[in-house]
Amino acid sequence: MEVEKELAHFLAPLQMDAWQYHPVVGSTNDIAREWAKAGAPDWGLVIADRQTKGRGRNNRQWVTRGGAGLAFTLVMKPTQQERMVLPRFTALAALGLIRALSKYDAAAEIKWPNDVLLNGKKLAGVLVEAEWHEDELEALVVGMGVNVGRKAVPPPDGLRYPATSVEEAIGIPVNRWELLASVIQEMQALRPSLATPDFIEAWNAKLAFRGEVVPIQFPNGDLKEMKILGVIEDGRLELCDEKGERIALSSGEIVV
Ligand code: BTN
Repeated sequence: MEVEKELAHFLAPLQMDAWQYHPVVGSTNDIAREWAKAGAPDWGLVIADRQTKGRGRNNRQWVTRGGAGLAFTLVMKPTQQERMVLPRFTALAALGLIRALSKYDAAAEIKWPNDVLLNGKKLAGVLVEAEWHEDELEALVVGMGVNVGRKAVPPPDGLRYPATSVEEAIGIPVNRWELLASVIQEMQALRPSLATPDFIEAWNAKLAFRGEVVPIQFPNGDLKEMKILGVIEDGRLELCDEKGERIALSSGEIVV
């Protein structure tokens, strides 16, 4: 079946009528940002088969070769209440994927702040960016890249972290567009709870390395062994050192 028809088939039950598919783009986040400026609706969806300038956090490259991965970005228009909890949108996408994968009996986890791990390897990444109009938040663009087929996994030499694919983990090929629809369906179901304590509970329930002592790289480059306590209300990661002193991290990295 032609890609657009297949996508239309899987997206129809979600009442997703604002979506665009591109065989090749630079970055779906860039297309979504342009669309947001031009008035894209909430849940406007940009999908690409291949990206030539896919990017991750800290301006790292994200490779989407075509034919095997999922690369998509949702335009989201936060409500007044959601504007108070913007960092939670990254977890909304990650939890959407985790819940979609649970239908295949795959137990994925969130490596704070924006990675999804399966069997301890990186399966997906989320990149949320804000589009402002003067001082007003116009929209968030919530981009996600998922290694679905084995061919989506980049060669190990260029990787900072070992990577895996859905196909490798569950042993059978998975339809990318079916998985996409399932992720969005889970995000739609979770979004009403975004600003509630339940959402933080759901995030912590899927937090990788919770309760473990792991090396943390701080924004200034320092590396220190810290115990991961969990995510707090504002999306920061609460840690404690060997003296029991607690700190909350808003950026940084778990380097295991
Ligand atoms: C990361 O691992 O740091 C995040 C990776 C995010 C990649 C996705 S793919 C779709 C969207 N478009 C991009 O350029 N990046 C995100």
